[in-house]
Amino acid sequence: MKLEAVVFDLDGVITDTAHYHFVAWRDMALGLGIHIDEAFNERLKGVSRLDSLRLILAHGGKADLFSDAELEAIATRKNEHYVNLLSALSPADILPGIAELLRELRQNGIRIGLASVSKNAPQVLAALGLTDAFDYCADAAKLTHSKPHPEIFLTACAGLGVTPAQAIGVEDAQAGVISIKAAGLYAVGVGSQLEGVDWLVPCTSHLTLPALLAHWADRQQN
Ligand code: BG6
Ligand code: MG
Repeated sequence: MKLEAVVFDLDGVITDTAHYHFVAWRDMALGLGIHIDEAFNERLKGVSRLDSLRLILAHGGKADLFSDAELEAIATRKNEHYVNLLSALSPADILPGIAELLRELRQNGIRIGLASVSKNAPQVLAALGLTDAFDYCADAAKLTHSKPHPEIFLTACAGLGVTPAQAIGVEDAQAGVISIKAAGLYAVGVGSQLEGVDWLVPCTSHLTLPALLAHWADRQQN
């Protein structure tokens, strides 16, 4: 079967906004007397803003202290901090190999999708100069479920007009890998500690079109 589409996560795959999310959550948590480190932050990757806040509060033993309105207010403050950090973002912040890969996919008629649960995704793509590089971006505001639920990758495939079996998903988060596999795409993981991936690369510079196609072809023979 021909590879018809590649669906990318954004934060941590296209650009390293994962670190900005961590900084904004860490500072917000400290204000509530909760300490989170980079290891804990792995559990927040791919998780929506409010679900991330709930995980942090549970981690700090403060799960039931806040009303829904207070949770919204805390999450909004975190987001304001995050958006401030984003103001420095430019095309220079596209992770290694990604711009070339997006160009090659387009030249080869392979459709390109975005599956990010971030409501800031349009702003991030614009800052990177990549808005037109994607054929379809799933709208985080219209999703019912965060990753690891398969909804976002299924939505992206439907929007691109491909079946999951014709597509590759690329993720840096464990919740995202589970989402890709549950949706039925071939899973490429970026990082070192991801379980259940079909192909794991240590960093995005390994994501060339020839390498992707070689792994896709191998998969067909299995
Ligand atoms: C994901 C990030 O891409 O987006 C999460 O991995 C983040 O860390 C989530 O919480 C939601 O992002 P935002 O920008 O809507 O707060
Ligand atoms: Mg990510």
